[in-house]
Amino acid sequence: MCGIVGYTGPQSASVPLIAGLKRLEYRGYDSAGIALGTAGKLFVEKKAGKLSNLESALDSSLPSVHSGIGHTRWATHGGPTDQNAHPHLDNEGKLAVIHNGIIENYTELRIALEAKGHKFSSQTDTESVAHLLSDLRKEHQGDLTKAMRDAVKVLRGSFTLLAIHADKPEEIVGVRRNSPLVVGVGTGENFMASDVSAFIEYTKQAIELGQDEIVTMDPTSVVITDLDGKTIKPKTYEISWDATAAEKGGFSHFMLKEIFEQPKAVADTLIGRLSDNNQILLDELHMSKQEIQSLKKITVIACGTAYHAGLVAKYAIEKWAKIPVEVEIASEFRYRDPIIDSTTLVIAISQSGETMDTLMAVRHAKSAGARVLAICNTNSSTIPRESDAVLYTHAGPEIAVASTKALLTQIIAVYLIGLHLAQANGSLSDQQVHEIYNELLELPGKIEQILETVEPLRELTRKFAKNDTVLFLGRNIGYPVALEGALKLKELAYIHAEGFAGGELKHGPIALIDQGTPVIAILPAGKEHALDEKMLSNIQEVKARGARVIVIAEEGVVVEGAEHVITIPVVRPIFQPILATVPLQVFAYEMAVARGNDVDQPRNLAKSVTVE
Ligand code: M6R
Repeated sequence: MCGIVGYTGPQSASVPLIAGLKRLEYRGYDSAGIALGTAGKLFVEKKAGKLSNLESALDSSLPSVHSGIGHTRWATHGGPTDQNAHPHLDNEGKLAVIHNGIIENYTELRIALEAKGHKFSSQTDTESVAHLLSDLRKEHQGDLTKAMRDAVKVLRGSFTLLAIHADKPEEIVGVRRNSPLVVGVGTGENFMASDVSAFIEYTKQAIELGQDEIVTMDPTSVVITDLDGKTIKPKTYEISWDATAAEKGGFSHFMLKEIFEQPKAVADTLIGRLSDNNQILLDELHMSKQEIQSLKKITVIACGTAYHAGLVAKYAIEKWAKIPVEVEIASEFRYRDPIIDSTTLVIAISQSGETMDTLMAVRHAKSAGARVLAICNTNSSTIPRESDAVLYTHAGPEIAVASTKALLTQIIAVYLIGLHLAQANGSLSDQQVHEIYNELLELPGKIEQILETVEPLRELTRKFAKNDTVLFLGRNIGYPVALEGALKLKELAYIHAEGFAGGELKHGPIALIDQGTPVIAILPAGKEHALDEKMLSNIQEVKARGARVIVIAEEGVVVEGAEHVITIPVVRPIFQPILATVPLQVFAYEMAVARGNDVDQPRNLAKSVTVE
């Protein structure tokens, strides 16, 4: 939800700003804009549509100045027009603001500011901040940091804000509340951005920021203060990946690259998790055996694809650790008086660590006394910072809006947690855990195997490109896979796609089946699995009503009546989602390409959903 970048240093500022916006465009792509720190009056250009529109508008006469701010937008208040694009300016054109989040009290601010004579030129919530800061800066004799501090005290909602003023153009002031902001510390230059990918090619030194912390930077200094003006010691860390991780590396889209990175992502997340004496090593959970044994239940909260990882957690943890698990969509959680207390472990799953719905659910759980464990892919993001413990996945940066490798690593993380809890509870022996862990280690090779044989699937997919409905069926651990297959297809191909539990078909959804409706069925793993036959019956039921059936099944399984069978290697049934999801990702990817859709930046979406 909006990407933000600020630069101050010796470079011609438009270069790092545009480079940063390119890397942040996954966060929002309704419009883009920059303000450059020209003395006297700022240079501002902003354009509706993708960043490429802004780039075309920035002609060669661009001033070569050394500071500026840039923004790529996911629209909330006000449509995606040039006027609503950020930066927003005060009436003198000297102060510019960019914003990620929502200013909830913008209407009352706007009325008050208009009454004082301010003229507004957009429908955004953000513009009120530009006018407010302008007044406050004057009250503070030109001190933008003090103005920002006072502004934050009256603003409600969630926001990252960056501001620049033409009278002191080398200085950029930023603040964050419930929205991400990181500082990049270079040599003679400094950066601020929504995430580190924006400046990774210039520096690997980053500073994480807490709630309501204000950053004032110029080329040679970064000062962080709190709302009382007290200086805060920076929490510096080194970014562990390099710039190439955030590039396409020869693939046509980030999504395809990320699909192909899955074997490595899974291997990296598994690395070093079993000790010589067969203990699952998850010290970051910070839970003693006694604390684990006294858990009465686990509640998993997440959104979208991460929610599907949560559903897998229920199957794995209940099976191995014998602890009841409930899984809830994070945005619903706090509105239903959930029964949680200190005997509940809440697991919050989030790739970005910034999803507002999940963050709010985490806060609710903590206030009810539950212990919160985050599963997250983004170092130092808000959700892990506010949780009691964090298990980081090692998927590397996920740029495509559609989540792929992050999901597989989230599922690996829940397997590890399940095994760890089972060991503490004594419900699995060390020998059993050793065997299961060794099978986990085989998964990267098996994903490779699938990826080596996806060409026929890509070809097959193109035959379905004109269909407007695709249904997915699964049972047991195949059910979350069906939901994920449908979500991927919706978000990428923009068509009607639904995932159903096979048993539910006869309770309504079978009415959707018409002549030629494509149905993708995930056959339960394990030839002995009792559900196998039931799913085979479901396949016959839809086929009898005209469906074209594609089946995902283990090697060696014979399926009658399927138009196409996609085989996946044999694994322990509970591990099936790791493999069965991969062809569905490829299917959705190829559908999007065939329909001419924007794969990496599907319409109306953004990677990181920082509004509720
Ligand atoms: O960053 P998070 O894992 O918290 O994001 C949750 C969802 O917004 C995300 O998984 C979304 O559903 C994906 N675009 C699906 O591909």
